[in-house]
Amino acid sequence: KQTNNMAKRTNAIDLSDSFEKIPVKIFPSSKDGSVFVARQIADFIRFKQQKKEKCVLGLATGSTPKSLYAELVRLHREEKLSFKNVITFNLDEYYPIHNNALQSYNRFMKTQLFDHVDIDPKNIHIPNGEIEKDDIKEHCRQYEKKIKDAGGIDLQILGIGNNGHIGFNEPGSGIYSKTRLITLDNSTRIANAYEFANISQVPRLAITMGISTILQSKKIILMAWGSAKAPVIKKAVEDDDTEQVPASLLQNHDDVTFVVDKSAAAELTRNKSPWLTGD
Ligand code: PGA
Repeated sequence: KQTNNMAKRTNAIDLSDSFEKIPVKIFPSSKDGSVFVARQIADFIRFKQQKKEKCVLGLATGSTPKSLYAELVRLHREEKLSFKNVITFNLDEYYPIHNNALQSYNRFMKTQLFDHVDIDPKNIHIPNGEIEKDDIKEHCRQYEKKIKDAGGIDLQILGIGNNGHIGFNEPGSGIYSKTRLITLDNSTRIANAYEFANISQVPRLAITMGISTILQSKKIILMAWGSAKAPVIKKAVEDDDTEQVPASLLQNHDDVTFVVDKSAAAELTRNKSPWLTGD
């Protein structure tokens, strides 16, 4: 299977002598990478506008996409990029959490993006951390249905956890998983503790799109910045795909690109042991 994957990739783009099973674009800095991704999104929104079509974006939270959202806000202000035809679905939300709590991803999206652009509020979808426990299953089922009814996600933006999670799909999340309630990994609670007063305040649960929800997106861009992400980027891109590193399951999608800065790319064989890649 791995050889097949490699062959498929090698046909699609030139990865001669490469160890990489996912195309990776490396930028000097996170700012450069974010400007590149913002440009891709802006071009796509405008392309859809010309065709008088909606543009369905899957969006991520965390520290990684902050510079992307800042650039999109700049494009809206300075280059008249309109979000009127944009429909969004966010990957995840803590559970339980109040929508206006400082750490909620509902609030994050408002502060970072939605309050500063002309998106129609009824086109915004984020899992709801406020609902009753008994209603979660139905909420998740409805979330999947809303994505389908919107025609599916055209472009999904992802970050990656140090443990390989995408959305809050923690290690062990299967390729067929859908939007659901999940228990956060201890490593994720530690990594995200900086957003809270202390670790005991970090919710133990979250609602997240599943791996299959993500893989159904037409196009996927995963972003990663900084040396802390270098080991997991290497695993996701070069090692065999495994549920233990959920981002490696993206090897099974045929239009996925990793956009990383130099530090996050440091463990890739082409950088770490370039003599092995034939360059
Ligand atoms: P980060 O988190 O952007 O804050 O590094 C990424 C993630 O957990 O997906």
